[in-house]
Amino acid sequence: MTAEAKTDVPADLAGVPSLTLDERQLGDLELLLSGAFAPLTGFMGTADVAAVTERRTLADGTPWPIPVTLDIPAEADPAADRVLLSDPEGTPLALLDVAERGDLPAARPGRDAPDTWLTRLAGRVSALREPEHGPFRRLMLRPAQARAEFGDSPVLAYATRGPVHSRQIGQLRHLAGHLKARLLLLPLVAGPAEVVTRPESLIRAVLAAAASLPPGTVVIPVPLAARGPRSGVGPECEPLARALVAAAYGATHLMIEGPDAASLGTGASVLSGTSTVTFSGTSPGGGLTDTGGVTIPMLRVGDWAYDRVAEVWRPLALIEAGTERDDLSPGELGDLLDAGAEVPAWFTPPAVARELRRARPPRAERGFVLFLTGLSGSGKSTIARNLADILAERGDRKVTLLDGDLVRQLLSAGLTFSRADRDLNIVRIGFVAAEVARHGGIAICAPIAPYAAARAQVRRMVSEVGDFLLIHVATPIEVCEARDRKGLYAKARAGLIDQFTGISDPYEEPLDADLTIDTAAMTREQATESVLRLLTSGGWLSQAAG
Ligand code: ADX
Repeated sequence: MTAEAKTDVPADLAGVPSLTLDERQLGDLELLLSGAFAPLTGFMGTADVAAVTERRTLADGTPWPIPVTLDIPAEADPAADRVLLSDPEGTPLALLDVAERGDLPAARPGRDAPDTWLTRLAGRVSALREPEHGPFRRLMLRPAQARAEFGDSPVLAYATRGPVHSRQIGQLRHLAGHLKARLLLLPLVAGPAEVVTRPESLIRAVLAAAASLPPGTVVIPVPLAARGPRSGVGPECEPLARALVAAAYGATHLMIEGPDAASLGTGASVLSGTSTVTFSGTSPGGGLTDTGGVTIPMLRVGDWAYDRVAEVWRPLALIEAGTERDDLSPGELGDLLDAGAEVPAWFTPPAVARELRRARPPRAERGFVLFLTGLSGSGKSTIARNLADILAERGDRKVTLLDGDLVRQLLSAGLTFSRADRDLNIVRIGFVAAEVARHGGIAICAPIAPYAAARAQVRRMVSEVGDFLLIHVATPIEVCEARDRKGLYAKARAGLIDQFTGISDPYEEPLDADLTIDTAAMTREQATESVLRLLTSGGWLSQAAG
């Protein structure tokens, strides 16, 4: 029985505490509820996780390749037997009957002793309502709907976190031809997409590529979060998870490539120039992943390259030596897009190139945030104002200035200088700055922003929609204090202001600054100039404007 089959949700849910899920947890929940993770009916507990890690089955022996767990910060645990699972807007999507809860240390790279803990909640989930929102919701068929659509025909699936280009189009056509299969493209939309970042951009790019594939090709976005190398989870979890989900949607074969193929080791049997991957631990016969009775082979295409003479993508072995051209790496493609250069026609169809450029405009047109952090009196505001003036004079970009003192007059009016209020202040600034960047503008922020965690949160928020540049105005405290333009350092020393940054409150020096400026060692013009040089050399400002 799948999770979707259970609909006898208790009527009285008042008083049941609610837990807000993050993007990857929401993805797993949706896959549990839609039947894509069938026969799983909920988040796994200790016995299932141990069985999966040791022998790739559930505790009851059902073959199952990946852990599906709900780990939350210990302090977020509602400590109840029943918990509503909600989306970020607070809409309850499902009810979790907690069968087990356990503590585990939060993985923190580079730390020996864990100082934060997670709580793992396990138990059956039952749907309260269908998810309705999100771009391209109409494409998100349930697995049963997809299987009905495909019937008995062979279906070759390709699951991807990045856009699909001419090489994969060639490979998919080739394999589908051999298998006489229909094609199923599964853009994986939980978590950032390669090159294009946003899920809707990934879907648009994959739809554009599908136009170059045979009619009948189906595109279904799937909220499968990346199965990273976390505790007890090897890199092979990613392709196994993809095969599992593809099979649920009716695929009979899955094409895999690159690191995914490598993580499964070398293939055994050969299918028309491609190898069928054997994963140790699955049934002999090879390449099979068992998903609750559904077993599909993972097909690895060999090395392909672009044949410059024949002007097609084909297996490397068929290309005359010296006339092949290697693929562009995601990094190289990103660089081309950042610079506003043409994406070559041999690499991707023009319709895909259009989507790429739209999702990732050239840096000179893309929104970005300049975030200046430093002590009071370090010179942040002066540099920020100079930059805003210069950009206004150039006239080619729109600028919003979010200076610390100005923000506290309205946007953050009433906030104190406690850590919690400072963090709230920074996140508010980050929220506005990210909206500016989303619309292609430049936001220049100049708060003290003493805490690394709040700065990192802003970097994350902005990076989803544009670029984020952190500038540390590292003027030494002695110099700031000697300047003391507002007389605040004197007051802080006299004990008239408490929690004063640098005197009686901490400032965490950034370790991730894109530029560090010491205004004690240069004039304000030189400081401004150094930021402009960063913007010009990085391509965010064109050399000659105005
Ligand atoms: S932040 O810590 O939340 O980033 P923000 O940049 O908004 O600080 O405000 C800092 C400005 O508030 C300083 O430039 C100073 O003029 C004033 N201020 C008043 N009290 C304090 C304090 N306790 N610590 C630091 N700045 C203070």
